[in-house]
Amino acid sequence: MSAISNLAYVVFKASDLAQWRSFAENILGLQVGDFSADALSLRMDEFAQRIILERGAEDDLSAAGWQFDTAQDLSQFVDSLRSKGVAVSTGDVPTVQSRKVEALFHCEDPNGFRHEFVFGPQYGLISKPFHSPLLCGDGFETGKLGVGHLLTVARDYAASVKFYTEVLGLKISDYIRDAETFPGVTVDATFMHSKTGRHHSLATAFMPSPKRLNHLMIEVKNFNDVGLAYDRVLKAGLPVIFTPGHHPNDHMYSFYVLTPSGFGLEYGWGGVVIDDHDWSVKNFSKLSDWGHKFAMPGAPDA
Ligand SMILES: [Fe+2]
Repeated sequence: MSAISNLAYVVFKASDLAQWRSFAENILGLQVGDFSADALSLRMDEFAQRIILERGAEDDLSAAGWQFDTAQDLSQFVDSLRSKGVAVSTGDVPTVQSRKVEALFHCEDPNGFRHEFVFGPQYGLISKPFHSPLLCGDGFETGKLGVGHLLTVARDYAASVKFYTEVLGLKISDYIRDAETFPGVTVDATFMHSKTGRHHSLATAFMPSPKRLNHLMIEVKNFNDVGLAYDRVLKAGLPVIFTPGHHPNDHMYSFYVLTPSGFGLEYGWGGVVIDDHDWSVKNFSKLSDWGHKFAMPGAPDA
């Protein structure tokens, strides 16, 4: 079966696009692509857009955009899904245009999230290259690794993992089962990667979370950009979810900030890239080696 290359883009429904624009430009160091009363697109690299925000009251994940290398790969993948009985629809013209891709199909997962399968993403004009006045390093870690990763909150954990691995065809990276971070709650998480090997493009977990999406992770190429972004978060007085820390599985050094939509954004550096020829699946007993102190109001010792 042809395989998903990477997570090319994400789509959110957001109630306050102006607040998101300020958050993206002034805190995260992203660049605005298009901005209208109904939509905001954000750039991280040479792509015309990587994060799409559509006006909507949900303030949650709307769609994950999975990229295929060729039209043939995409076609074969869609055929294989349909042969398994998965209801896959062809994207309508407005959706294809808003995603700025050549072709698009979509289906829903057991959690109600929409997965879009695409090829041919639009690149930005050479006259308008990606530029962030805030980043000290060489931008965001994207390229063949994609936009970053998503952690969805599973309604049915077993069914979700089964769908993401057997239908989407993602491969298991590892597992974390943590009984310490949230008092009285055991977090059970499965991490999965696509062909190009970002440690996980998608993870799903049984865990406390105000939204169906727990967080989006974006990664910078320079370690110092994590610290500089954390300083901007503190200076702006934005809610920190987890203080800086280090994950044992993907080796990400990161912090988590609350977005204007109420889900988290992990801002990280140093994530592992998996080579399937030299990878063995492990399980871990803690979400973090150190740091990542839960800092939201109401948290123990917050
Ligand atoms: Fe993460």
